[in-house]
Amino acid sequence: MKNRFYRPLSLACISPGYFPDIALFIKNNGNFILYKNHDRKFTEADRQRLEWTSTQFLYVRSGDMDVVTEYLEHNLDSLLVRSDIDSGSKGTILYQTAANYVTDIFDEPDKTADIIRCRSLMRHLMKYVSGHEDALKALQAITSQNHYIFTHSVQVAALMMLVHDRLFALTHDEMIDVGVGSLLHDFGLVFLSGDLLDKPDALSAIEYHKVKQHTQKGYEHLHSAGTLGEVSLTIVRHHHEKYDGSGYPSGLKGDQIPRSAQLAALCDTFCAMTTDRPKHNAIPQTEALKIMGEEVGSSFNPELFKRFEAVVSGKTA
Ligand SMILES: [Fe+2]
Ligand SMILES: [Fe+2]
Repeated sequence: MKNRFYRPLSLACISPGYFPDIALFIKNNGNFILYKNHDRKFTEADRQRLEWTSTQFLYVRSGDMDVVTEYLEHNLDSLLVRSDIDSGSKGTILYQTAANYVTDIFDEPDKTADIIRCRSLMRHLMKYVSGHEDALKALQAITSQNHYIFTHSVQVAALMMLVHDRLFALTHDEMIDVGVGSLLHDFGLVFLSGDLLDKPDALSAIEYHKVKQHTQKGYEHLHSAGTLGEVSLTIVRHHHEKYDGSGYPSGLKGDQIPRSAQLAALCDTFCAMTTDRPKHNAIPQTEALKIMGEEVGSSFNPELFKRFEAVVSGKTA
């Protein structure tokens, strides 16, 4: 049988007692052999046995990936703080949870090259995040606060990296900085109460004022935590600035707004409009670009919007 029918799953993500009842396979000399059927629970003895034989990955049928993704989503925040899981495995867990959301930001199935590129950039980013305690803690706080913010953050990070990859010649380190900043751009929302996040459409003036503080609060917290690069911090702080100076927190205008933050505003808006959110249905990408186009000159830099639009609609790939 061919490899595309099976997906690897790090042993670290398979928790005895919690893992869903699906069949697991091991790979031996290129063949996939049934390890346990769906009607048998994965036990602590299984885990130990596989560890003794230095098995790092098991495989699931690709048709079972929806169940696996749901399991990872529900357990992500607890998996990320477990001290018995090494950083490499945490990176794999993060990547596996995030990979599906990357695909969701493309509504045209023929954009395979972009999807593959995004996944590869995401794999590097998640590996980096899992090895850096500050970034991992911040991401863990996001996942335990609200799962939509995690999904949204992953999508903005993937799109930001793709846009930078297509438009600018960034080094690997610069790309990671862009990715980390984008992944944590809404980190400040963790300081808000859950109630507020669940009712995005009906905010009073006071509540809106609180939500707006997520940029500055996120920046201050991550800045004092210490290890984030300048570009990452800029994205967190300035992703709600507007080209005409009417944004927040600083009211920066035009090219006073750093390029990375201007692009973050574009990717943030685009991802929010084109994915299902609480109380908002996703709209098609062409429609989102049309609506965003009407904001050129007020919210967005005309030249950058043109280049962003070309990337997401596949004209520069
Ligand atoms: Fe935001
Ligand atoms: Fe956002």
